[in-house]
Amino acid sequence: MTLSFTFNICLTRKSGILIALLSFFVSGVFAQNQKKITIPVETLHNALVLQKDDGGRLGIIYFGTKLNSPSEYDFIPSMYKRGDDYSGILNAAYTPSGSRNLVEPAIEVIHSDGNTSLDLQYVSHNWQQTDENVSTLSILLRDPKYAFEVTLFYKVYFKEDVIEQWSVIKNLEKGVVTLHKYASANLYLSAENYYLKHYHGDWAKEMRPEESRLTAGIKVLDSKLGTRANLYQPPTFMVSLDKAATEDEGKVLLGSLEWSGNFKIDLEVDPLNNLRIIAGINPFASEYALQPAQEFTSPAFLFTFSDKGKGNASRNLHRWARKYRILDGNGSRLTLLNNWEATYFDFNENKLAELIRDTKKLGVDMFLLDDGWFGNKYPRNDDHAGLGDWKENVKKLPSGIGYLVKEAQKNEVKFGIWVEPEMVNPPSELYEKHPDWVIRQPGRPEHLYRNQHVLDLSNPQVQDFVFGVLDNILVKNPDVAFFKWDCNAVIYNAYSAYLQKQSHLYVEYVRGLYKVLEKLRAKYPKLPMMLCSGGGGRVDYAALKYFTEFWLSDNTDPLERVFIQWEYSYFYPAIAHCNHVTDWGKQPVKYRTDVAMMGKLGFDIVVSKLDEKDLKFCQQAVLNYKSLNDVIWHGDLYRLADPRENEFASLMFVNEGQDKVVMFNYLVGNRYAEGSKSPVKLKGLNPEKKYKVREVNLYPDTKSTLDENAVYSGNYLMTVGINPDVRSSRTSVVLELTALP
Ligand code: DGJ
Repeated sequence: MTLSFTFNICLTRKSGILIALLSFFVSGVFAQNQKKITIPVETLHNALVLQKDDGGRLGIIYFGTKLNSPSEYDFIPSMYKRGDDYSGILNAAYTPSGSRNLVEPAIEVIHSDGNTSLDLQYVSHNWQQTDENVSTLSILLRDPKYAFEVTLFYKVYFKEDVIEQWSVIKNLEKGVVTLHKYASANLYLSAENYYLKHYHGDWAKEMRPEESRLTAGIKVLDSKLGTRANLYQPPTFMVSLDKAATEDEGKVLLGSLEWSGNFKIDLEVDPLNNLRIIAGINPFASEYALQPAQEFTSPAFLFTFSDKGKGNASRNLHRWARKYRILDGNGSRLTLLNNWEATYFDFNENKLAELIRDTKKLGVDMFLLDDGWFGNKYPRNDDHAGLGDWKENVKKLPSGIGYLVKEAQKNEVKFGIWVEPEMVNPPSELYEKHPDWVIRQPGRPEHLYRNQHVLDLSNPQVQDFVFGVLDNILVKNPDVAFFKWDCNAVIYNAYSAYLQKQSHLYVEYVRGLYKVLEKLRAKYPKLPMMLCSGGGGRVDYAALKYFTEFWLSDNTDPLERVFIQWEYSYFYPAIAHCNHVTDWGKQPVKYRTDVAMMGKLGFDIVVSKLDEKDLKFCQQAVLNYKSLNDVIWHGDLYRLADPRENEFASLMFVNEGQDKVVMFNYLVGNRYAEGSKSPVKLKGLNPEKKYKVREVNLYPDTKSTLDENAVYSGNYLMTVGINPDVRSSRTSVVLELTALP
C-alpha cells in the first residue's frame, strides 16, 4: 500500500478500521492537498479501480482481473496511448453533463436557476463492512458551484465476484432541480474489441440472443413499455472483452438493471476505443423534479465479471442470486398442476375438484387455479371483462375459494391461486367505481392491451387496493399456499389522475409496486409467489426480492424452451425457472417433461386424458424429480453443448460435494441421423471420484442403451466424456451420475 499526503493514496478493503481512519483523513483534513486517490473495489478475482485525479474528478482507471499488488493499479493509465481526451473526463465514474463533458452523460440536470451545467468533484469516501463477504463503498461527489451532491455506492459481494452499483442524488439548492438523466452506474472498460450479447423478443419469443461487435458510437438497450417492460428487450446483457467469450474462456461482464420498469443502457465505444456503459432508469418522458433537500435513489445496476468465460460468470451470478436476492433462494419449491391450458376460463368447482384429485394422482405438491375465477356483474369468462373485481364468481365457484382449499387439503395437496392485481378491464365494477385509478390520457381514445388497462400504482389508494387483493384472499383463506402474480399489459397513454407531475409516472409506478410488495412481504414473508407477466415480460433482480420464481414465457413448446431456458440460465438460476409441461409442441410427453425438469417442474395438461403409459411416465418423472431437485435447485449449472451450435443440447447440474450430477440432453435438429455423435465432456466433477451413470425418466417399457454397469472417473468424464446417445429414437435423455462412496 502506498500512502502519501501529497501524491498517491491507495486504499484496499483489508481493514475496516484502517480504512475508516484513512477515509476520515482523506475527506476531512488532507483532501485538498492530495494529488491522487486510488480506490480499488476488489472482489475475489476482479477489480474496479477508481481514482480521483489532480483536478478532483473521479474516474475509472481499471476494470478487470485483480492484480496481486493494488499499488500497481496506478501504473495502468500511462500504459494507454490511445489519443487525447480533450474533456479529461471520458473515464468519469459518473459523467455529468453541461460542463466539460462531450459524450453520453450519466446525469443531466437543470438547476433551480435554470443553469444546465454540472461538475462533480470528489469529496470523500467510506467503506462499510456488513460481514466478512459483503461491504459497501460510498463516494461523495459535489458540484463546486452548486449545492448539489451525488453519492455513488458500490456494494461488493466478494466471493461471488458480484457488485451492485447505484447512486443517490441530492438537491441542496434552495429551489427545485430537474433531473433529466439519473443513471445508476457508469463503467469504463478498456479492451481492443467489445462484443455485446443482448436479447430481444415479444410474447412467446422471449430471450432471442444477438451477439455482435460494438463499433464506434452508442448502442442503446432500452424499454419504454412502463409495465411488463421486458416484453421487447430485457435489462440483461453480456459484454466480452477483446473477443467474444465462450462458455469456458474469455473475459466477460454480465450486467442487469434491478428495475421493473423503463430502463436504458448506453454502450458507447468512445473516441479512445474504450467502452463506456451507462445503465439506469430510462429518462424517456421521465424528467424528475427534485425538491430542496430531497434525495433520489436510483435502482442498482448489478454486474459480475469473469476471465473464464460466460459459464463461470453465470455460476457466480446464480450463487449470488440464491444467497442474497431471490426470495428463499436456497430453499425448496412446490411442484404443481396448473389448470390454465387444461380449462382456460371454462370451469366450475366440480371440474376443479376433479383437477385437484388429478393433482394428487400425478404426485405433485400443489394445484394452481389460474385466471377466470372472479367477477360477477362482469364475469371473467374470457379476457374482455372482470379484471379488478376480485370476488369469486358465484356461478363457477358457489362455495368459494375456501371449498377448493379444503378439497386440496382432503387430497393432501396445497392450493395456489392466480391474480393480476395491477390491471383492470373496462367492463368491471372497479373501472366504473374508480375511473381515476386508471392510467389513460384524458380526452384521448382508450387504447387497450389484452383488453385491459394498467392501474395507477403511483396513487397510494391504488397501492392499498392492490395489496388488498392478495391480503383479502389470505385473510379469508390462510391456507392458500401460493400466488401467481400476472401482469399482462404495457402502459399506453401514460397519464395519472393522481400525480401533479406527469413525468414522474413511470418512476412512481414502479416505486408504488415495490411499496405494495414490501408491505406484502412484511405480513407474509415466506409465501411462495411466481412472477409472471404474460410470459417473461418482467423478471429482474429487484422484483425477485419478493418472488420465489418466475414464468419464463407462455411459449411452452419444449423445443423452443430448450433455447429460451438456455438463455435465461445465464442470468437466473434454475430454482427460479417455472417450467410447465403442456400440450404445446409436437414432442412426446417424455421430451416435454425432461425439458421442464431443468428448472422448477409443473404441469398444465389434462391428466385424465393421458394414456396409461404417459400417466405412468409422468408419475415416475415426478418421483425422479423429487430425488434430483436438490441438485437442480442448488447445484452449479454447466452448459455442455449449445443447441445453437449443435443438433442437440446438453447441460448438467452438479452439487457442491461433486457426488451427484444430473445431465439433460435434448435433440433439437431433425436432419437425418443427427444426434450425439461424439462423447460430451462433463465439467465441474472431482477428477479423483468414480461415478456410476444411470439413465432416468425412461419411458415405460423402454430400456437405456447405455452401459449402466460402467463406472467412470471424473477425470475420464471431463477429458473424454460420455455419449448420452441422443438420436431420433431417443430425443431426450436424462442421466443421473452418482459418485461411489
Ligand atoms: C398469462 C400467463 O402467462 C398465463 O400463464 C396465464 O396465467 C394467463 N395469463 C391467464 O390470463
